[in-house]
Amino acid sequence: MNTIILETERLILRPLSVNDFDAVYAYESDYETVKFMYALSFKPGYVVPEENTYTFLQECETEWQKDVPAFYEFAVVEKVSKKLIGHIAAYHLDTDQMEASVYPACELGWIFNRAFWGKGYCTEAALKIKQFALETLGVKKLVAHCDERNLASARVMEKLGLKKVWGNGPREYPLTGEKSTEAMYALDIKDDKNEN
Ligand SMILES: CC(C)(COP(=O)(O)OP(=O)(O)OC[C@H]1O[C@@H](n2cnc3c(N)ncnc32)[C@H](O)[C@@H]1OP(=O)(O)O)[C@@H](O)C(=O)NCCC(=O)NCCS
Repeated sequence: MNTIILETERLILRPLSVNDFDAVYAYESDYETVKFMYALSFKPGYVVPEENTYTFLQECETEWQKDVPAFYEFAVVEKVSKKLIGHIAAYHLDTDQMEASVYPACELGWIFNRAFWGKGYCTEAALKIKQFALETLGVKKLVAHCDERNLASARVMEKLGLKKVWGNGPREYPLTGEKSTEAMYALDIKDDKNEN
């Protein structure tokens, strides 16, 4: 089991596990929170099966037990309250999944409980994940995707130094069939002056 713990001024990032079910289900079952999340978005009124969150958390635990995980899902814990306020991840990408000009690459993703939005927490956690991906995993490229309407998430990507590389990808939400537009942000390490 990998026990990677990362720390920022206000946050602890540690492996996400099935023990986190209550906190994670609370925001994964909140329409306003997941409405722009590709795999999670649902129609208002829909009751999200608990099984979905549970299965996801089991997958996270399994991955953390591997010598070389394919992805790293971190629980984000607010130091002052000790509450789990969200989770944030880096997923290894391979060249089958994208036309990576540089390999290896990671995709970043995040979700936070609405009660904790607007405090700079996602940016704080994401900067740590960026450092983890570049320095510990040794990746040379970071990418992130969002719905074009998801201005808060796009802003976090910009604050990490990622640049919008395209903004007109088609997106169709699997659970609702809703069609939207997707943006992709990316950072090649050679372009990131802070990392050179
Ligand atoms: C995206 C998300 C994680 C951001 O969390 P957060 O902790 O509130 O983010 P931060 O406080 O670190 O930063 C948010 C930035 O977006 C800005 N922002 C927030 N809402 C915005 C809006 N509607 N329009 C423009 N900018 C917005 C904030 O002002 C801040 O930028 P600033 O520091 O320059 O002022 C959170 O909104 C969330 O969990 N959303 C639902 C899940 C989701 O969509 N995940 C991403 C899928 S791609």
